[in-house]
Amino acid sequence: MSYAALVKHYRTLFHLGHVDAMVSWDEGTMMPIGGGDARGEALSALRGVIHQQATHEKLSGLFAAAAKEAAALSPWQQANLRLMERDWVRATALPRGLVEAMSRAQSRSEQAWRKLGPDNDFAGFLPFFREVVGLKREAAQTLGDKLALSPYDALLDEYESGARAASIAPLFARLRAFLPGLIAKAVEQQSREPVTACEGPFPVDRQHWLVLELMRRLGFDFDHGRVDAAPHPFCSCVPTDVRIAVHYDVDDYINAMMGVVHEAGHAKYQQNLPNDWLDQPVGAARSTNLHESQSLLHEMQVGRSRAFLQFVAPIIAEAFPAAVARGREAFNPENLFLRLTRVNPGVIRRNADEATYPCHIILRFEIEKGLIDGSLRPEDVPEAWDVSMREMLGLPTRGNDRDGCLQDVHWPAGMFGYFPTYTLGALIAAQMFDAVKRAHPKVNEQIRRGEFHVLDGWLREHVWSHGSLWGSMELVERATGSALSTEAFEQHLERRYVLRES
Ligand code: CO
Repeated sequence: MSYAALVKHYRTLFHLGHVDAMVSWDEGTMMPIGGGDARGEALSALRGVIHQQATHEKLSGLFAAAAKEAAALSPWQQANLRLMERDWVRATALPRGLVEAMSRAQSRSEQAWRKLGPDNDFAGFLPFFREVVGLKREAAQTLGDKLALSPYDALLDEYESGARAASIAPLFARLRAFLPGLIAKAVEQQSREPVTACEGPFPVDRQHWLVLELMRRLGFDFDHGRVDAAPHPFCSCVPTDVRIAVHYDVDDYINAMMGVVHEAGHAKYQQNLPNDWLDQPVGAARSTNLHESQSLLHEMQVGRSRAFLQFVAPIIAEAFPAAVARGREAFNPENLFLRLTRVNPGVIRRNADEATYPCHIILRFEIEKGLIDGSLRPEDVPEAWDVSMREMLGLPTRGNDRDGCLQDVHWPAGMFGYFPTYTLGALIAAQMFDAVKRAHPKVNEQIRRGEFHVLDGWLREHVWSHGSLWGSMELVERATGSALSTEAFEQHLERRYVLRES
């Protein structure tokens, strides 16, 4: 049977991906510096094999034959077949010459950006940027032709199958109208809310204790994962073995702590995927948006709520007795709440808070869409950036491209279509947590007591156990009872930043 042969083939690909993930984790955490060159060669050989398997010539015939068997397959098998075929179409869509040209141009442009970005030299970067955008447009056009999508939609579709600019644009337009007023109110109100700063140092071993304790309380399964220190935070995972890397800063523990609350959301999604399908495409986490919705539900909806901070404050105090002795005030739950819900409009996306973050994303969505559909030229990006920044956050970036369009690695590295996932994830997280509260009105009291099993039960039933069976918009609608909108997110921001309720 052709479907059975495909299952076997994609199982092998899954195993190879497993090895890639573990070897990459080792490279980022444990590998001594001298191992770097040979490791690079080894990984590139492995990825060559993965590419060969993903584009194997026998696949074309197998998919044609399997299409005839589809009617006899179960819904899970049918979804699996569709996902395998989608992977294969993507893997084979672009001519080899174009893939290689893109890879060279992107690595040149990323290297140039590493120097020219900090130098604030947009003019110097422009030739590299033009080349990357030009090749990406060509790739998007080719992909779009194969997938019957517009070029930009073909790029979006890579991170979220089914995502379309036409459905994202109205959501973002609503936020664009709503956010500036909310941000102004919050900033005005918070000018009368003093926050007590904490005083370090916060020893790394105590931070690591705090992080492990939090992960344990949040329900991270240590039989199927580990948490280690690394120079850069990341998560490299397969469902049965989730590796989380945390960066510790001895002057402040907050980023490490909130970072693992975020990663806990990603990790629990991975660890609770449907057991029977783990080695098949349909058993994988659905999409980047949905993954980010799980981490943002943990970090933002839950992690910055008063209830959660009341739960976590005594654990923080236990982790850092010396710092508490220097100033108890900084560690009380209300002070933590004021600190973690501070709204502070700035030009740098990475430092943005929950309320201003979507502004950074909306601006990037509009600009990258224009670059790919050809309505905006690369040389006009700094101007477009400055106009949007002033409109949404009241902050000019003219002449300061370092802190404007040169601040992120994504575009220099050829990543277009990825940015919207952050904000779509935030919208989904708000809508899901709203549904959880309707189904379980006592969930905040449970969180205050450090009990997460009811929350986890809801997420397992409505999200995690479904793997990639449905598209994420369909999953959101089934889970929450309505199509994705900005309503729950807006209400959440009002409650938290204007009414100061939760
Ligand atoms: Co994340």
